[in-house]
Amino acid sequence: MTLQESSNWFQNGEMRQEILRVLVGYPYKPYRGLGLGTDEMLAHAFLTSLAGSRLVVARGQGRIRGLAFYQDLPWESRLFRVRMGKISAIVADSPDLASHLVGTVVGNCRSEGVRHLSAETEFPDLPTAHALERAGFRLDETRLILYRTEKLSPEAEIGELQDYRPSYRQDLLEIARRSFPTSRYSTDPHLDQRAARTLYSKWLADGLDGRADFVKVVTDGDKPLGFLLCRKFVEEMPESQLVVGVQDLMAVAPEHQGQGLGQRFARAAWQWLSANSTVHVARIPSDRFVPLAVAVSVGYRFHSGKVGFRLWLGD
Ligand SMILES: CC(C)(COP(=O)(O)OP(=O)(O)OC[C@H]1O[C@@H](n2cnc3c(N)ncnc32)[C@H](O)[C@@H]1OP(=O)(O)O)[C@@H](O)C(=O)NCCC(=O)NCCS
Repeated sequence: MTLQESSNWFQNGEMRQEILRVLVGYPYKPYRGLGLGTDEMLAHAFLTSLAGSRLVVARGQGRIRGLAFYQDLPWESRLFRVRMGKISAIVADSPDLASHLVGTVVGNCRSEGVRHLSAETEFPDLPTAHALERAGFRLDETRLILYRTEKLSPEAEIGELQDYRPSYRQDLLEIARRSFPTSRYSTDPHLDQRAARTLYSKWLADGLDGRADFVKVVTDGDKPLGFLLCRKFVEEMPESQLVVGVQDLMAVAPEHQGQGLGQRFARAAWQWLSANSTVHVARIPSDRFVPLAVAVSVGYRFHSGKVGFRLWLGD
C-alpha cells in the first residue's frame, strides 16, 4: 500500500477520473435516493464540491483503495483565533485503511499547525466513526439532514413579513444571541466560550452583509421579533447543474416563540426556495425538536444523519 498526497489533484484530469470512478461506488453521496441524478452524476457533484480539499490517496493492487479529503476552516479559524480544519470525507475499502488514512491526515494537520480538527460521518458509517475514535476524536453533535422537492404555489398565503433594514441589525443580532445560547462548540474545553456563544450572531451578520440570498424579518411596529435567511448554491453535474436551496438560519425572540412565527418563516422560505432551487435542504441538530417539528410541518422529509466529531491537536 502506498500513500500519495496532493493539493492540486482536481487539476489533474487523469487522477480526477480515477477518483470519480471510486466515488461512483461510495454509498454516502449527498442527494442520493432523491431521483436527482445517476450515481455518476451525484459522484461528479460530490467530487466538484471537494475541489478545494487536500487529498491523501491510498493505492494497492494497482487501484485506489482509499481517499481522505481535508481542508482548512477559515471562517471558524477567524472566529476562534485558532487554526481549524476539517476532514471532509474518508472513503476506504477496509476499517484498517480508514484508520490509517485518519492517522495520516491528523499527522499532516498537526505538522502544518492546525490546532482543531472536525470530522463528520454518516450514521451507518461505523468503520469511519471507529477510526476517528481510535485517533482520539470525540463526538460533539449529531445532525439530521432533511430534504424537500415539492414546490409551494407562488400564491400561497404566508402572513406578513418585512424586508431587512439596517436599523433592525442590532436587535436581530441580539435575537440570534439569545435564541442560540449554545452551539456545537459549546462543550469544547479548548475553544473560547465567549466566541462559541457569538457563533450564530456572526453567522447572521455575514448573512445580512450579503452571504444570504433571501432575508425576511417579522416586526411588531419597528421592533424586530425574528429573522429568516435562505441561500442557494449550485452543484455541478455533467452537462447540467443542480440548484440546491438551503433554509440557512431562522430564529424568533424567545418571548415570542410558540406563536406561529416560525411556521410563517418556514412557509416564506418554502415559497422562495420553490422559485429558486430544485431541492431544498435543511441540516438540524438531532436534539432541536422545535425546528425539526417546524421543518416536518412544511413538508421536509428525513434523508440521512451525520455524526460530528472534534479533535484538539494543540498543547
Ligand atoms: C425554531 C423557531 C424559529 C420556531 O419558531 P416558533 O415561532 O417558536 O415556531 P412556531 O410557533 O411557528 O411553531 C413551533 C412548532 O413546534 C412545535 N413544538 C414545540 N415544542 C416541541 C417539542 N418539544 N417537540 C416537538 N414539537 C414541538 C409546536 O407544537 C409548533 O408546531 P405546530 O404549530 O404544528 O403545533 C424558534 O423556536 C427558535 O428561534 N428557536 C431557537 C433557534 C433555532 O433553533 N432555530 C432553528 C435552527 S435554524
